[in-house]
Amino acid sequence: MSSARLTYDGKEYDLALIEGTEGEVGIDVQALRKVTSGAITYDPGYGNTGSCSSAITFIDGEEGILRYRGHSIEQLAERTRFIEVCYLLIYGNLPTEDQLQRFGEQVTRHTLIHEDMKKFFEGYPQTAHPMAILSSMVSSLSAYYPVGEDEEGMDLNIVRLLAKAKTIAAFSHKKSMGQPVVYPRNDLSYTQNFLHMMFALPVEPYEVSPVVDEALNMLLILHADHEQNCSTATVRMVGSSAANLFVSISAGINALWGPLHGGANQAVIEMLEHIRRDGGDYKKYVDKAKDKADPFRLMGFGHRVYKNYDPRAKLLKGAADGVLSELGVSDPLLDIARELERIALEDEYFVERNLYPNVDFYSGIIYRAMGIPTEMFTVMFALGRLPGWIAHWKEMRADATTRIHRPRQIYTGENVREVLPVSER
Ligand code: SDX
Repeated sequence: MSSARLTYDGKEYDLALIEGTEGEVGIDVQALRKVTSGAITYDPGYGNTGSCSSAITFIDGEEGILRYRGHSIEQLAERTRFIEVCYLLIYGNLPTEDQLQRFGEQVTRHTLIHEDMKKFFEGYPQTAHPMAILSSMVSSLSAYYPVGEDEEGMDLNIVRLLAKAKTIAAFSHKKSMGQPVVYPRNDLSYTQNFLHMMFALPVEPYEVSPVVDEALNMLLILHADHEQNCSTATVRMVGSSAANLFVSISAGINALWGPLHGGANQAVIEMLEHIRRDGGDYKKYVDKAKDKADPFRLMGFGHRVYKNYDPRAKLLKGAADGVLSELGVSDPLLDIARELERIALEDEYFVERNLYPNVDFYSGIIYRAMGIPTEMFTVMFALGRLPGWIAHWKEMRADATTRIHRPRQIYTGENVREVLPVSER
C-alpha cells in the first residue's frame, strides 16, 4: 500500500502514507488544502490526527504496551532510577556510568532555587494550590536564567528545570503546612532529596524510608512520558512559536492540572472519599457514571488511547498492596477502589466502551500512604512528566521541518452583515 486515494468533488487524489517503525500508518494530508483548493480535515479533539512524528515513546493502546525509547516501562520501573529515565527520554539512550554520574551531579548541584524566588512564596496565600505555584514559578525561571538556544545553554536549562522543579514543589508543600522550607542536600539522590525537602523538619531529624523512596522512584518513572497527551501536545504547541523552554513547560503544567488529565489523580481520591462518606455504595456510583443525564464520571477510568488495561495502572495496582503493607498503612479507599473496579469491569457499559482503570486510578492511594497530601498529587504527576515534556520540546525544536502549530477550523458563524447604528439594532 503506497498511497491513499481520496475522491472529492468529482476528482481523485493520491495522498502519500507515512509508516512508523512499529507499523503505524498515517495518511499525509499536508498538501490537502492546496490540491483540493481549500478542503481541510475535520477532527475535533485530534482523536485521529497525528500532529508530528516522534522517536520518544510508543504506545499500543489495544495491547496495553508503553515503551520509552524502545524500553518497556515494566523493565524500566524494575531496573532503573528516575534520573536515568530522564536522561533516556531527553537524550535518547540510557546513560553510561560516566554519563549518569555527570548528569546526576549536575542535577544535584542545580537543586537550589535563587534566594529571590523564595520571596514569591510570601505572596501566595497558604491555601494556594501547588499547581498554581509550580506553573508560575517554572515560568518565572526564564526571568532568572538566560534562555539562549545554543546547545550548551539549552542543556544547562534542562538540568536547571529538572533540578529546581522538585524544590519548588517541596517548598509549596511547606508553604501549605505553614512550615519553614527545607533546603536540599547534595548527598541525597533525586528522589531522596525531594522527600527530604518535603518531610524534614528543623526540629527533628528525618530519615528517608527506602520503601517510600522506591515507591516514589516507580511512580515518577511510570509518569515520565506518554506521547502526544494533552499537556505534551500543549508544550509542543507553545514551543512551536519559539517560546523558551521554561514557559513552554509551564503551559504543559497548566494543561495537566485539568481533572480530565493529570488532575484526575486528585479527583479519584476525592471521589473515593465521597463514596466512602456516602456509605460505600459502589453500585450507585457506577450507575451514576453510566447515566448520561448525570455529569458524574468514574475518575481514573477510561483513556483516549488505551482500549485495554493501562499498563501503568496494572503496575500501580500490584504495587499498592506492597507499599501499604511495608509502610504498615491500611487504607479503606484501596478496598473501595478495588470493589469499584471489579463492578465496573463486569458492567456492559464499561466493557463495550473499553473503559479500564488508567494511571490515575491507583496512584493516589500510594501517594497517600507515602504521606503526600491530595493537593500535591498532580504536582507529583508533573514532576514525573517533566522529562517527557522536555524531550518533546527538544525533539520538536531540533526538527528543521517544525512549523508554528496553527490548526484550521470550519466556520459556522454569521455570514457577512451590516453594522447598524445602535438606534436601529
Ligand atoms: C490521563 O492522553 C494521555 O495519555 C493522558 C494520560 C497521560 O499519561 O498523559 O494517560 C493521563 O490524563 C489519564 C486520564 C485521566 N482522566 C480521568 O480519569 C477522567 C475520567 N476519564 C474520562 O473523562 C475519559 O475517559 C478521558 C478524558 C480519559 C478520555 O476521554 P475521551 O477519549 O474523549 O473519551 P470519551 O469522553 O469520548 O468517552 C467515550 C465514551 C463516552 O460514552 P458514549 O458517548 O460513547 O456513550 O465513554 C464514556 C463517555 O461518556 N466514558 C466514561 C468515562 N470515560 C469515558 N463514562 C464514565 N466514566 C468515565 N470515566
